[in-house]
Amino acid sequence: MTDQSVSRADSALGCQDLTKSFLGVRAVNGATFEVPRGQITALIGPNGAGKTTVVNILSGLMKSDGGTMHLESTETTNWESEKIARLGLMRTFQLSRELGGLTVLENLLVAPHDQPGEKLFNIFFRPGRVTKAEKAHVERALEVLRTYGLYELRDSRASDLSGGQKKLLEISRAVMAGPKVLLLDEPMAGVNPALIERIGGYILDLKAQGVTVLMVEHNLNVVEKICDHVIVLAEGRTLATGRLSDLRENKEVVSAYLGEVIDASAIS
Ligand SMILES: Nc1ncnc2c1ncn2[C@@H]1O[C@H](COP(=O)(O)OP(=O)(O)OP(=O)(O)O)[C@@H](O)[C@H]1O
Ligand SMILES: [Mg+2]
Repeated sequence: MTDQSVSRADSALGCQDLTKSFLGVRAVNGATFEVPRGQITALIGPNGAGKTTVVNILSGLMKSDGGTMHLESTETTNWESEKIARLGLMRTFQLSRELGGLTVLENLLVAPHDQPGEKLFNIFFRPGRVTKAEKAHVERALEVLRTYGLYELRDSRASDLSGGQKKLLEISRAVMAGPKVLLLDEPMAGVNPALIERIGGYILDLKAQGVTVLMVEHNLNVVEKICDHVIVLAEGRTLATGRLSDLRENKEVVSAYLGEVIDASAIS
C-alpha cells in the first residue's frame, strides 16, 4: 500500500506497511502515510489506535516488526534514534520527560540530541573554562527559553514546573537543535485554553520557519485551526488521509472516530 495523497517528492517523512506487536497484540498493523514537507500534519485516532507507537517507531525509539520508513530520501527503517536525530528529526513525549532534578536551562543543555557528556562537563563544573562553542550552546538554550516563555524559570527545578510549563519545556528541548522535522505527541493535552492557543501559535511559527510538523492531537478544533493535513489511524492502520473538511465527509472515518469521539458539530 502507498499513500497517494502526498507525492513522495513532497514528503519529508513517511512509512509503509509498518507493523508492531506487543505480546501478540497488533498495536500497529500496516500504517502507511506520507507527511508533507513544510506543513503541519495531525495524526488522529481513538485511544489505543497506535499513534504513540508509530511516533516511537518513526523517531527510532522502538523498532518495527515490519514495514519501511523514510526521512526525506533516506531510508531510516530500524535506525537508532541518535542517527535519526542527526538527520534532523526531533520528537516530544506524550508524558513529559523532563529531568526533574535539573534546572530548566540544564534540561535544554542536556537535551537528547546533544553531544555526549564531555563538552557539557565544563558548563556545569568548570564554568571558567567554557569554550566558545559551549557559550554559544548556552546562548542558544537561553534564546529558546525566551521564545517559549520559560526564560524567567531558567533556574527553577524542572520538577517544580506546572503541567503546562512542562509541555513547553518538552517543546523547547526538541527545538533546541533546530529540527527539520518535529514529532509532537499530544503537545496540548491537559493544558488550559490560553496555553493551547499559545502552543498553537508556536507550532505555526515553526511551520513559518520551514519545519515539518507531525502532531498527535485529540482536539479537533486545534486540528482544524492549525493543521494542513490529517492522517487518521484506527486499529494500527491508516484509515484515511487528507484535509479535515474532506474527512468529515468520509463515513468510515466518522463512524470509526469522528462521530464517536467528538460531536461532529464541534468540527463544523
Ligand atoms: N510498551 C507497550 N507494551 C505493551 N503494549 C503496548 C505498549 N505500548 C503500547 N501498547 C499497546 O498498543 C496499543 C497502541 O498504543 P499507543 O500508545 O500507540 O496508542 P495511542 O494511539 O497513542 O493511544 P492514546 O490516544 O491513548 O495515547 C494499545 O493497545 C496499547 O495498550
Ligand atoms: Mg498516545
